[in-house]
Amino acid sequence: MTIEVRDVSKQYGEGKVAFWALRNINLELKEGDLISIVGPSGSGKTTLLNIMGCLDTPTNGSVLIDGQSTEKLGDGELSKIRREKIGFVFQDYYLNDSMNALQNVMLPLEFSGHSNRKEEATILLESVGLENKSHNLPSELSGGERQRVVIARAMANKPKYILTDEPTGNLDSVSSGNILDLLRELNSERGVSIVIITHDKDVASVTKKQIKIVDGMIV
Ligand SMILES: Nc1ncnc2c1ncn2[C@@H]1O[C@H](COP(=O)(O)OP(=O)(O)OP(=O)(O)O)[C@@H](O)[C@H]1O
Ligand SMILES: [Mg+2]
Repeated sequence: MTIEVRDVSKQYGEGKVAFWALRNINLELKEGDLISIVGPSGSGKTTLLNIMGCLDTPTNGSVLIDGQSTEKLGDGELSKIRREKIGFVFQDYYLNDSMNALQNVMLPLEFSGHSNRKEEATILLESVGLENKSHNLPSELSGGERQRVVIARAMANKPKYILTDEPTGNLDSVSSGNILDLLRELNSERGVSIVIITHDKDVASVTKKQIKIVDGMIV
């Protein structure tokens, strides 16, 4: 069970404004992996994560999810892979602002036709310690709490992979530690393979494997 990135390059723009954001990247996210990706701003980290998560396609090279090449898949098939296999923890602006915490966590369950959605979402909120905030809107939660809702939602369909982009970005050290503990627990106790993009050295230091990207290349 792996996400395999094979010789991936990504070009943005054409002609004079053409820019290679990624160059010949090879990377494997294997079962039980916990990998951090570090590198300067603009080095290609988010671009790589988007490609690994089938949110974007490479210009050259390929991405295989559990051995299946994603190259020729249509939008429907790609969104099925994302829904069934991958949890995304990007920044909190991906929460629906008009839905409370519980409703946000229930959302992915609706698409996959779970029968006990409310119960399931409540258990997920409990697992991130937010059972008493289930009726709060995102605007009524702290940054760290919002990020925990995002993690609960990412776990909803029991993904094998969780891809995170600066999950502790705007948080103080205590909240940041909580988020990190949650991710580590998912990795060690549930065997979820996790990628964490971070500029925080403390976060990177707890991961089993670290990757550094500079100018679109792994160094
Ligand atoms: N849609 C786009 N069109 C053109 N250039 C883009 C586009 N998206 C990203 N880029 C460029 O590609 C490069 C890599 O961007 P990316 O967002 O992957 O960087 P990053 O490592 O995530 O940076 P940060 O740490 O600031 O989030 C940057 O130079 C950026 O300007
Ligand atoms: Mg980024």
